[in-house]
Amino acid sequence: MLLKQLIHWQKWLRFIGIRVAVRVFLTICLTTGMLCILGSTAPMSNALTLPDATVYRSPDCSCCSGWIDHLKAKGFEIKDFPIPDIQAVKQRYNLPDNLSSCHTAIVNGYVIEGHVPADDIKRLLQEKPNVAGLSVPQMPVGTPGMEMGNQKDPFTVFSFDDKGSVAVFNRYPSS
Ligand code: CU
Ligand code: CU
Repeated sequence: MLLKQLIHWQKWLRFIGIRVAVRVFLTICLTTGMLCILGSTAPMSNALTLPDATVYRSPDCSCCSGWIDHLKAKGFEIKDFPIPDIQAVKQRYNLPDNLSSCHTAIVNGYVIEGHVPADDIKRLLQEKPNVAGLSVPQMPVGTPGMEMGNQKDPFTVFSFDDKGSVAVFNRYPSS
C-alpha cells in the first residue's frame, strides 16, 4: 500500500518536473528571441537619427514655416533663426546668386537653399557627395512649403560646390 503511494507520488513529481522544465525552456526561448528582435531593430532606429537643421529665414515668411513643418514631419529637429537680413547669410555661405531662394538651412555642414524636399536632404546625408549643398532656386509652386492646391510646377534640385560648379541632383516630376 505504502509502496504504491510512493510510486504514485514519484510519477506526480516527475510530471511536475517536466512541466517546470518546459516552462523554463519556453521562457528562455522567448527572452532570447525578443533580445534578437531588439538587437536587430536598434541599429535601424540609429540609422534614422537625423542631424538638426539650422534654418535662417525672414521673420515674416510663411512659406519658410511651411518648409520647416515639412522637415519636422520627415523627422528633422529644427533650430529656427528668423533674421531680417537673410541676404547676409547667403553671402556668408557663398551661395551662387542664381541658386538663391527664400530661406537658407545648414544640415551637417551642407547648405540647403530653398524648398528642397526632405528626401533629397536624406539622400545627400547618406551619399555624402563632395558638394557645398543643395538648392531649389526661387520658389516653385508645389515644392514642400509652397503648396497651392493641386498645382505642381516641375522643378530641379541642384547641387553646387565651393568652386561654383552646379549639377542636377534630382528632378520633379522624375522622368
Ligand atoms: Cu519660400
Ligand atoms: Cu523659405
